[in-house]
Amino acid sequence: MAADALFRPFSYKSLHLKNRIVMAPMTRSFSPNGVPPPEVATYYRRRAEGEVGLILSEGTAVARPAAKNDPNVPDFHGEQALAGWKRVINEVHAAGGRMGPQLWHVGSARNQLTKWVAPPPVDSPSGLSSPGKRFTEPMTDSAIADAIAAFGKAAADAKRLGFDVAEIHGAHGYLVDQFFWAGTNERTDVYGGATLGERTRFAVDVVKAMRAAVGEDFVIILRLSQWKQQDYNVKLAQTPKEMEEWLTPLVDAGVDILHCSQRRFWEPEFEGSELNFAGWAKKLTGRPTITVGSVGLSGEFLSTLLKGEGSKTASLDDLLRRLEREEFDLVAVGRALITDAQWARKVREGRESELADFDREALSTLV
Ligand SMILES: Cc1cc2nc3c(=O)[nH]c(=O)nc-3n(C[C@H](O)[C@H](O)[C@H](O)COP(=O)(O)O)c2cc1C
Repeated sequence: MAADALFRPFSYKSLHLKNRIVMAPMTRSFSPNGVPPPEVATYYRRRAEGEVGLILSEGTAVARPAAKNDPNVPDFHGEQALAGWKRVINEVHAAGGRMGPQLWHVGSARNQLTKWVAPPPVDSPSGLSSPGKRFTEPMTDSAIADAIAAFGKAAADAKRLGFDVAEIHGAHGYLVDQFFWAGTNERTDVYGGATLGERTRFAVDVVKAMRAAVGEDFVIILRLSQWKQQDYNVKLAQTPKEMEEWLTPLVDAGVDILHCSQRRFWEPEFEGSELNFAGWAKKLTGRPTITVGSVGLSGEFLSTLLKGEGSKTASLDDLLRRLEREEFDLVAVGRALITDAQWARKVREGRESELADFDREALSTLV
């Protein structure tokens, strides 16, 4: 099947992309003391040279003491780290790419690969790392206000440095998602509540702070997932109606594009329809959506990262069929772009036979 659908331009507000391929945000931990060195700029520039339409950076920490759980994860605050990011966006633009940082706060999620512990206080809605596991105090009102302001400040910096978009990491069981999930949010104030709609309040305030900082025309992306790293089987929204109650306040607050994280993009979200998460999010909100999850690969990413399972290259036909019928607008590619910076160009030129399987070894170097 010809890959033409992946290579149509896309525009929304001030964002103009040459194709539909997005580099998925992927933590690489090559930024000692939180400062992205020149090698990180070169790494992203190579993906821009390889024709990726939009690059989302690895998760980068907002200005709260325990926003990250690995010292080599880059910060998105402080003069030195921001100077590093300025070099990144300048190089990506010089290569004709578009890019935004993924703004991240890990909340109470511990790192499964390092034992490093951030300075206190750990931020989380109810002091829980997973349902029933209490290990710290719930966030105070002032900690919540400060965290929201930190996202707003980071968005302002993203725009000031020249980035094209900013993405909020609202997925995978990290801070924003900990507010969505009843299993980690037992608050009884405005940031808690019995319904998923009520538990969007923290994310809504984050989005509003960012929107106030960047103005109307700058694109804000929100990454969401039903699943949590604490439990792959969780579904925040059990029905389309619940999904609508979750997404509507977020879109109303100012989210432009929803980035719907699945581990396997082909899995239907609800019974009785083939639509995946990004398909439903688009149908329910009318906003553009990004799909993701094992594009071009046979196995999903967590088995690769945590168990070392390899993934073979796989056909793009099902993805292209869905994109062709506009189930979603953009397609994020993760591991395949770690293995091969030229992935997008090779797909455009029909050189699929040159694409390689993914092996965890690829994570040990930044090339
Ligand atoms: C090494 C690695 C690091 C990741 N780090 C992040 C991250 O910082 N933020 C995030 O939202 N997702 C992260 N993910 C998930 C990816 O963005 C993506 O959703 C996932 O890898 C599925 O896409 P793929 O099957 O094409 O690899 C990471 C994945 C990998 C493989």
